[in-house]
Amino acid sequence: MTATTARNRMLGHVISAEQFDRGLLDLLFLRATALAGVRDDRLAHRVMATLFYEPSTRTRLSFESAMLRLGGSVIGTEAAHTFSSAIKGETLEDTVRMVSTYADLIVLRHDEAGAAARAASVASVPVVNAGDGPGEHPTQALLDLYTIERELGRVEGVSVAFCGDLRFGRTARSLALLLALYPGVRLAFVAPAVIQVGGDILARLEARGVECRLAEQLTDVLDDVDVVYQTRVQKERFTDPVEFEQARTAIRIDGAIMRQLPAKAIVMHPLPRVDEIAPEVDADPRAAYFRQAANGVAIRMAVLEMLLS
Ligand code: NCD
Repeated sequence: MTATTARNRMLGHVISAEQFDRGLLDLLFLRATALAGVRDDRLAHRVMATLFYEPSTRTRLSFESAMLRLGGSVIGTEAAHTFSSAIKGETLEDTVRMVSTYADLIVLRHDEAGAAARAASVASVPVVNAGDGPGEHPTQALLDLYTIERELGRVEGVSVAFCGDLRFGRTARSLALLLALYPGVRLAFVAPAVIQVGGDILARLEARGVECRLAEQLTDVLDDVDVVYQTRVQKERFTDPVEFEQARTAIRIDGAIMRQLPAKAIVMHPLPRVDEIAPEVDADPRAAYFRQAANGVAIRMAVLEMLLS
């Protein structure tokens, strides 16, 4: 399959993990591996706009780095609720219509689920969802899946324990949907009830025949995992501070957990972490989260190449 065929299959936008199939993922991962470390000008004269209504470090900077390494240019606004005309009352749709005329691609992060789909419906250039509230974060899921394949040498048949904030955490939602494409994958969702994964995701996974189980303690599933995917409790999405406090410290990975983790398993986290992984874990070779974050540049280079060349 050529990059052009693949692009057509993605309909020009990257909104949800559900747009991807195995062929497209294999192609993207091949391209990411080929593009890692590349500096050239294949996207010269192309402009990428980053429109970020929520804070970001890794996602925005790795997209910008990916575009610059391919010779493209970057414009953008962070804190777009206050630094863009949103503060004057402009709708997301109007902003996106305009930015479509200034850039060849828009990377959008927004606090409302469904915002990326709304933007795509009015944009005249590709829109990439860089996180839409508690909705999805498909390019994070791509780099997470790529990390699993590189670290473990396979995705088929892996056992993944998602931990932490599975109610509001968009990265876990998108990654679970991608993992559902691989036969034999087993998923555990480990969280207290207040932040357990949504029924919408479970229904989609079960419809695809994915083996899922729910647990409250990481130690209940630890002996049978290849990947522990820890996530931050999303303080900014709680309306009830009491609920947040109950959720905040529920699941923590520390030296004691690492001693029980199988020798070949890895610990991942989309980052930023607060205190859900103790710093003492960082030195363990099974701590894959910084290698995971580094993979973001190559994956985003592959995504940009696919959408723009
Ligand atoms: C995540 C996000 O923004 O959803 N971060 C990221 O993109 N790497 C996770 C988080 O904010 O906790």
